[in-house]
Amino acid sequence: MREQIIAALDIGTSKICCFIAKVREGENRPRVVGIGHQVSKGLKSGTIVDMEETETSIRAAVDAAERMAGGSPILDVYVNISAGQPVSRFFSVEVDVAGHEISQLDIDRLLAAGQENLLDEDRFIIHSSAISFSLDGVKSANKPLGMFGEKLGVEIHASTGAISPLKNIQTCLDHCHLKLKDVVLSPYASALAALVPDERELGSICVDMGGGLTSISAFQNNELIYGDVIQVGGSHVTRDIAQGLSVPLAKAERLKIIYGNCLTDRVPVRDQIDIVQIGENGQEHAMIIPRSMLTSIVSPRVEEILELVRDRIIETSLADRVGRRIVFTGGASQISGLEELAGKIFSVQKSPKLRGDFYIRLGRPNNVDGLADATAGPVFSTCAGLLNYAAIKPDEIHSISQKKPERSLFSQIGGWVKDNF
Ligand SMILES: Nc1ncnc2c1ncn2[C@@H]1O[C@H](COP(=O)(O)OP(=O)(O)OP(=O)(O)O)[C@@H](O)[C@H]1O
Ligand SMILES: [Mg+2]
Repeated sequence: MREQIIAALDIGTSKICCFIAKVREGENRPRVVGIGHQVSKGLKSGTIVDMEETETSIRAAVDAAERMAGGSPILDVYVNISAGQPVSRFFSVEVDVAGHEISQLDIDRLLAAGQENLLDEDRFIIHSSAISFSLDGVKSANKPLGMFGEKLGVEIHASTGAISPLKNIQTCLDHCHLKLKDVVLSPYASALAALVPDERELGSICVDMGGGLTSISAFQNNELIYGDVIQVGGSHVTRDIAQGLSVPLAKAERLKIIYGNCLTDRVPVRDQIDIVQIGENGQEHAMIIPRSMLTSIVSPRVEEILELVRDRIIETSLADRVGRRIVFTGGASQISGLEELAGKIFSVQKSPKLRGDFYIRLGRPNNVDGLADATAGPVFSTCAGLLNYAAIKPDEIHSISQKKPERSLFSQIGGWVKDNF
């Protein structure tokens, strides 16, 4: 049976990670055969700020993954993007079908009309998909092929981002002799990995809590219907600890991971921890503090992140559309007590505007094979999800014209990014 090789590169604020996988023809479950990850130093809140540092980490991660996969160099990579203030928007388009039977040609004409509406000179389209079709105002998730009507319509979701951060990613890859096969919005990739198929079908929200940012996506009928990024993540918690306890960042990170908890009342009053403070003249000195001091720093920051997510969900009425199920993933979702704290923040008692409680669970890569325990955690959801995207290759409206010999105005202007891949 023929197998295709696919490669994913998660350029994150804390780590850069490369997965190489094989997918059997006719199947869409990747089997990971090569893994490489490296500490990331050239990014700030998901945006590349130092090309050289980023390129060094990319090369090291890709090199390790290639060696594990058997040594053949990879060229095409699927890469995530969370920089460039991604924005989600919806719009509807209608065409006249004058009472005849709807054929695939009518659907193509409708989607081509949708493409024209996607044009935006300053931003590039990261994703675009048909959310629902309508015939004479009656909505359906399926194409109304073979039916009769006067007006055929489509509701489109598009996710767009600023062009410069993408150019920077492309330049880094060029310098590493890699080719950008496609870009995927980070929370979209994370959801492809962390949500189970039923959750994507019935409607769910995925929240990826990373190092420099927290990103949100929502799915319904297997389509991405929302993507958003908030510029706060786990590294802010680490910084708060470093400042609050006067400890170096590396020690603060360790304290957070080993003793951190975002529920202040869950830590026994008598628990104490050893810390090494930065004293005067840069000298370090050891001391013992109550563990509750650490949780009183961690808790408000995690609460703030969850409240920002909750506010976005309220502002966008997302729960009314996709329901009340949230899956948390990403490295920072591993902080002890997160599920319970999120349950409180997303409860109707705490926030009546939510109009109902949420079901909350933690998620990790579900939909790929070949991951060992150390690489199957929530830190790797985005990278695994990039493989899922590569294997599924969802239909995207803005790339339709590429499949046709005659190229539309859209593919010449708005689609320049995809053209460059
Ligand atoms: N066990 C743990 N408990 C708490 N936090 C953790 C744990 N493990 C990792 N983290 C935190 O997770 C964050 C890194 O997560 P992740 O690897 O998902 O980020 P990233 O993808 O590199 O960054 P971003 O998505 O923001 O660009 C760090 O802030 C780290 O401190
Ligand atoms: Mg990430």
